[in-house]
Amino acid sequence: MTFPDSRPRRLRTTPAVRRLVAETRLHPAQLILPAFVREGIGEPVPVGSMPGVVQHTRDSLRRAAAEAAEAGIGGIMLFGVPEHKDAVGSAGTDPDGILQQAIRDVVAEVGEQLVVMSDLCLDEFTDHGHCGVLAADGSVDNDATLERYAEMAVVQAEAGVHMVGPSGMMDGQIGVVRRALDAAGYQDTAILAYTAKYASALYGPFREAVDSGLKGDRKTYQQDLANAREALRELELDVAEGADLVMVKPAGPCLDILRAVADRSPVPVVAYQISGEYSMVEAAAANGWIERERTIMESLLSISRAGGEQILTYWAVEAARMLRA
Ligand code: PBG
Repeated sequence: MTFPDSRPRRLRTTPAVRRLVAETRLHPAQLILPAFVREGIGEPVPVGSMPGVVQHTRDSLRRAAAEAAEAGIGGIMLFGVPEHKDAVGSAGTDPDGILQQAIRDVVAEVGEQLVVMSDLCLDEFTDHGHCGVLAADGSVDNDATLERYAEMAVVQAEAGVHMVGPSGMMDGQIGVVRRALDAAGYQDTAILAYTAKYASALYGPFREAVDSGLKGDRKTYQQDLANAREALRELELDVAEGADLVMVKPAGPCLDILRAVADRSPVPVVAYQISGEYSMVEAAAANGWIERERTIMESLLSISRAGGEQILTYWAVEAARMLRA
């Protein structure tokens, strides 16, 4: 009696066999660390809803970037928090604005080892907290916002950033940014397009991290979580407009979208494991309800299996160390 004929468990019997047949492997080089730098502070300021994450000073950011390079991760994504916010996000296009200073600092510190990226969006810089400028009726004005993004792209490129990350979900943003960069002579500055970005509840902790003034939501520009098809439309548009990499965000709640995009994309597919995904795990782990390290690695492995080739994660440095241990 030899039933059952098939015994898949044979490939699960020992750690050595499981290691041999693993289809998905994580490597530190695929990990990207999002980092916040805040103007006008003397010490790093902890982000209460994200235990272990801080708003950096320029100095502490440099040290964190050096540590990240040491850990062997692939890149760092910078977000600036200016001292003064206004209706059009002026600090975002000030050549001496906090984000531009941080780009220069980090490129000088680790520009050879890490790909240095910057958020290209107005929400950290506007007093109303929206990702664009507002029309008279209070709605987000797509085309007026594109002009601001074009300026921002050039200022960030002048500061030396390797890759800009337009994250505002305005129509036409990738094309406008590509043209502005090219016209200013920055043909080699790449675009990491936030292609399928959904209006998730899980951005909450990030909004604390950037001292966001947002009231309301971003549902008129970020995608509806009910929809998959529009992610594919956004993919086509972003690639046609010149995206060098495309991103799906958030990661965990959108693994199906990640798979669909990865099956069709002619360019690398990035996933952003967002602030709320981080905070949920940290909170549950702090209560002793889940095993923290296993959960972190499981979340990253699942994102990778679904098609995320590069992953933005607040655990990038820690995960890289775990992978090397
Ligand atoms: C927009 C931007 C956001 C995030 C990255 N870029 C905020 C938003 O869309 O509300 C969120 C990242 C996270 O939650 O970790 N500049």
